[in-house]
Amino acid sequence: MSQHRVIIDCDPGHDDFAAIALAAQSKSIQIEAIIAVNGNAPLSHTVRNALSIAAALDLDCPVHAGAELPFLHRYAYPTEFHGETGLDSSGAMLPNHDRGAEQRHGALEIIQRVRAAPGEITIVALGPMTDIALALTLDPGIAPLVREIVFMGGALSGGNVTSQAEFNIWADPHAAAIVLAAGVRTTMFGLDVTNRAWLTMDELASLREGVDTPNPLADILQFYAEGSGDVRAGRTPGPALHDPCPIAWLIQPELFEVEALPVSVCCTTGDHFGTTYSDRRAWRDEAAPTISVATGIDRDGFAGLLTPALHMAAKQIAEKTQLPCTQSNGG
Ligand code: BDR
Ligand code: CA
Repeated sequence: MSQHRVIIDCDPGHDDFAAIALAAQSKSIQIEAIIAVNGNAPLSHTVRNALSIAAALDLDCPVHAGAELPFLHRYAYPTEFHGETGLDSSGAMLPNHDRGAEQRHGALEIIQRVRAAPGEITIVALGPMTDIALALTLDPGIAPLVREIVFMGGALSGGNVTSQAEFNIWADPHAAAIVLAAGVRTTMFGLDVTNRAWLTMDELASLREGVDTPNPLADILQFYAEGSGDVRAGRTPGPALHDPCPIAWLIQPELFEVEALPVSVCCTTGDHFGTTYSDRRAWRDEAAPTISVATGIDRDGFAGLLTPALHMAAKQIAEKTQLPCTQSNGG
């Protein structure tokens, strides 16, 4: 089992929470730092959520604030999926804690950690890639020192925030374009696979087994399931858990099929703004740089990895929820 030292840059976010919980439960992943970026909700909310998640999971890693805004794009936050807080619950909230964010900006933290451990650090991007683009712009010399970037974002075809674009890329396409052009070994988990990474409602209900007390993780994921348009339309038997996919791949790469493909981002205003696209012709320019793109997923294997990890995390958090509180949520 190979060991991964990861920086998780995220915008929690319900599926970000599930991804962090999966990473926290895995012996093959060491979370070096969590960076919260503007994305599903304003930065103040995603930082607060990241701190609450880190405290609830007893994570022994710093939490940093990243970018407050995308490079150029301004948009309305997707409250229909993540609520006003970015991590709304249909019941219990995460336990109170007294943690605070570190002083150093997330982009500077990426540079510092990559330079301190050349070839060792994997960056897991689960939100808009603003911080990673900033780090690569402030210090382009880190590009060959990053072990790998694995990100949730984009699609080879079809979108969720628009008919063509996936949210994380659409939210900051200029950042994504910078990251994809940086020459770092990169693996993309787009909607082509993450839309198939659903947990059934029964699998989600199993997070309540053996937990008689308030169960914040199950309640938070229930809110997410209730907001899923695919579930409401009867297209999938449960909500897609997008963000755990890159983490699942680090733990069990055999759950995914990947192809080497050239991937570009459309930054031009219009119907295709924020889309990723690829040339899949057999006779395409062979000299064009490629990244690894996940194109297949073993859904049952994925659920078999994620569901027990979430169950463990749910139990751990539920036990803490009973403890007396010292301070209000938010650090
Ligand atoms: C991505 O967008 C966000 O809403 C989710 O957290 C995920 O990272 C899915 O398109
Ligand atoms: Ca996310």
